[in-house]
Amino acid sequence: MALPNINPTTTDSWKRLQEHFKTVKNVHMKDLFAQDKERANKFTIKWDDFYVDFSKNRITEETFNYLLELADEAKLKNAINSQFSGETINKTEGRAVLHTALRAPETSECHVDGVNVIPEVYEVKQKIQQFTDDIVNGERKGFTGKAFTDIVNIGIGGSDLGPAMVVDSLQYYKNHLTTHFVSNVDGDHVNEIIKKLNPETTLFVVVSKTFTTQETLSNANTIKAWFLKTASEEAIAKHFVAVSTNIPSVKSFGIDENNVFPMWDWVGGRFSLWSAVGLTISLAVGYHNFESLLRGANKMDDHFKTEDFKSNIPVVLALISIWYNNFFKAESEAVIPYSQYLNQFATYLQQGIMESNGKSVDRNGNPIDYETGTLIWGEPGTNSQHAFFQLIHQGTKLIPADFIGFTKSLHGNQDHQDKLISNFLAQTEALLNGKTEKEVIAEGTPSDIIPFKVFKGNKPTNTIFINKLTPESLGKLIAMYEHKIFVQGIIWNIFSYDQFGVELGKQLATKILQEFNNSSLSNHDSSTNNLLNYYKNKV
Ligand code: F6P
Repeated sequence: MALPNINPTTTDSWKRLQEHFKTVKNVHMKDLFAQDKERANKFTIKWDDFYVDFSKNRITEETFNYLLELADEAKLKNAINSQFSGETINKTEGRAVLHTALRAPETSECHVDGVNVIPEVYEVKQKIQQFTDDIVNGERKGFTGKAFTDIVNIGIGGSDLGPAMVVDSLQYYKNHLTTHFVSNVDGDHVNEIIKKLNPETTLFVVVSKTFTTQETLSNANTIKAWFLKTASEEAIAKHFVAVSTNIPSVKSFGIDENNVFPMWDWVGGRFSLWSAVGLTISLAVGYHNFESLLRGANKMDDHFKTEDFKSNIPVVLALISIWYNNFFKAESEAVIPYSQYLNQFATYLQQGIMESNGKSVDRNGNPIDYETGTLIWGEPGTNSQHAFFQLIHQGTKLIPADFIGFTKSLHGNQDHQDKLISNFLAQTEALLNGKTEKEVIAEGTPSDIIPFKVFKGNKPTNTIFINKLTPESLGKLIAMYEHKIFVQGIIWNIFSYDQFGVELGKQLATKILQEFNNSSLSNHDSSTNNLLNYYKNKV
């Protein structure tokens, strides 16, 4: 069964939302809270170790009901079933979308073209576990007989961002191995990493689903050449492993077939950290922690699949985001984790959200005349409070924000934790209420300064409060955003799982690279011609 392909703007609920928007767009949330003492309880979802308060949004119960109707009219339930049952919902690439199968229990079944893929998934997991144990315990050694001390993940996009973010986020759970990530084709990146390495004790994990990506192959070749300055060709089998669907290319690069961790075309790059793409995660924090990460994601999958939409966290967050994106015309959303561990979280989400839903053609192949993918950005609090919060509080743009916090700190310093969480709570309160002119005057502010100190408030936030940052809760959090992406793509009637938009630049870069060695240039625009000549004359 194909995904539904309903233009959301033609649905009854969309039209109702448009009418309803006129009546709520100027309503202040402060008044909504004053009118209904139960508001926070009504708009909070408690699930497992998650407490999700979405009451500080510019919605009423009527808004919420219309949004839920929109999900129904878009046939979201059918779409969820299609995804989980392995249908070819990535129609433009002719593939299923089954990152959820990577974290499903061993006893479950998931069919792609009539074949249950779960046994293969568990076979690869076993290989990851064995390999991880051998490296971490020092049983598998480098070419001079020394145990490994360093791991270098060579990949880009989904083959870098997910593993890098998770390893950084779970650094509290890390073992003795030092991990490095090389992604950019900028040679200074790889050279800065090489500077820190000893070839005798470093393991290289080349991660590329396609094994054709320019950045990854260039970095892998540079590293191989550096490695071969001290080691022999035979040593490559001990020090290089690969994660890919493209086994022939991995072999021709020189990596032993036994050192290949397979993945599947039904796993999209930006959703692949749950597969062997997460090998570096497993190496860094141990296989048992990698498994907990997967278990957490699987719990969120079950919640998403089975929970009523009104208390379904990813669905609710997606609908609220659509409300701002399509009715308030908010251009971007911020994600502000109050945890330094989640330093890379927004960067990671950028690929998932913007590569998936940055589309302008609908599932019927027609151009779209409504807004789709949101811009996503963010940095941890409290640092971001001292950087861009001014604009969120007093700027002209509406920026809905997700605030993510953990009730417990990992190192247990309660003094710091209380300060952190007081900021976490204070910011969403300030964004909600603002500060009136009356309050500013009462502070004794000189009259000519009063307008500058007024905060309008009415700035929407979701608060996602989680007990503790663990591999399992991180798995839930990542999966929560994955499903939010899916819901939005379904309602916007777009295909979320292709990324043709990244191809044109790649093709032109290949052409320009060839021209660096040619005396004549092909027919570029005059700006590109000038820039190309400028570069050629400089090098
Ligand atoms: O350029 C986009 C992209 O195709 C991403 O979707 C993907 O995560 C990344 O490149 C890396 O691709 P690969 O794993 O095939 O090297």
